[in-house]
Amino acid sequence: MNATAAVAAAVVPAAGRGERLGPGAPKALRELGGVPLLVHAVRALTRSRAVGLVVVAAPADGVAEVVALLDSHGLEGKDIRVVAGGATRQESVRLGLAAIPAEVGIVLVHDAARPLVPVEVVDAVASAVRAGAEAVVPAVPLADTVKRVEPVAGGPEPVLDTPDRATLRAVQTPQGFRRETLAGVHAKALAEETAQDGAGLPPVTDDAGLVERFGGRVVVVPGHEEAFKVTRPLDLVLAEAVLARRRAADAY
Ligand code: CTP
Ligand code: MG
Repeated sequence: MNATAAVAAAVVPAAGRGERLGPGAPKALRELGGVPLLVHAVRALTRSRAVGLVVVAAPADGVAEVVALLDSHGLEGKDIRVVAGGATRQESVRLGLAAIPAEVGIVLVHDAARPLVPVEVVDAVASAVRAGAEAVVPAVPLADTVKRVEPVAGGPEPVLDTPDRATLRAVQTPQGFRRETLAGVHAKALAEETAQDGAGLPPVTDDAGLVERFGGRVVVVPGHEEAFKVTRPLDLVLAEAVLARRRAADAY
């Protein structure tokens, strides 16, 4: 294996609107401790020696803004590229993946909305792929009991069953892949959508889900509670608190 193949590239889907966070700038550009979520997420990746290149999939009308933003936060020396993202997370990842040089053998996919992922998680995911896994997801056990329901708008919703919590994991990012595996499943999903005129299978919410759909093997490594996704307003409050605690710890 040559040096380039051993170093991973990361795709950062950052083109979402952040509807659940409420009105305002696109979520990736919203600030946490005065710094955009996207900048935190990219820094978390560039801190890992396993990552040699980061490709950001920005909102399609915000590519120039994102390039300027990354430069203004001291990331101009790093190998970071910005491409226009798509209408779905899946499309954004596919477009980001297309910008990765062919010789890169390992690809991580990391949500811009997970700004506080510890570098240990990035390293662990990349190592597991380097050690031979084709798809790796970091995950944590669930605190809540989960029930499957028959969805009814406005409820009440009949409960179908209660999966054994011990067998459930909440999955995070970065998720890591052999490049051929990830590129292969994205190409297959696109072909399916095109063949069925967009009326294909329901979109997956993570990349490992695509690997599973096409029969690949996905393994889980330990994630971290600080790798949570900023989705709703309360998540931003929690993220501010985690960041303040880190900054206080660094000051000593
Ligand atoms: N994402 C993307 N392109 C899209 C939609 C989502 O790159 N068309 C990215 C988001 O920017 C985010 C990640 O995928 O970093 C995870 O998605 P999510 O948390 O759902 O973010 P949003 O789609 O922005 O939020 P919401 O679903 O609340 O609108
Ligand atoms: Mg979304």
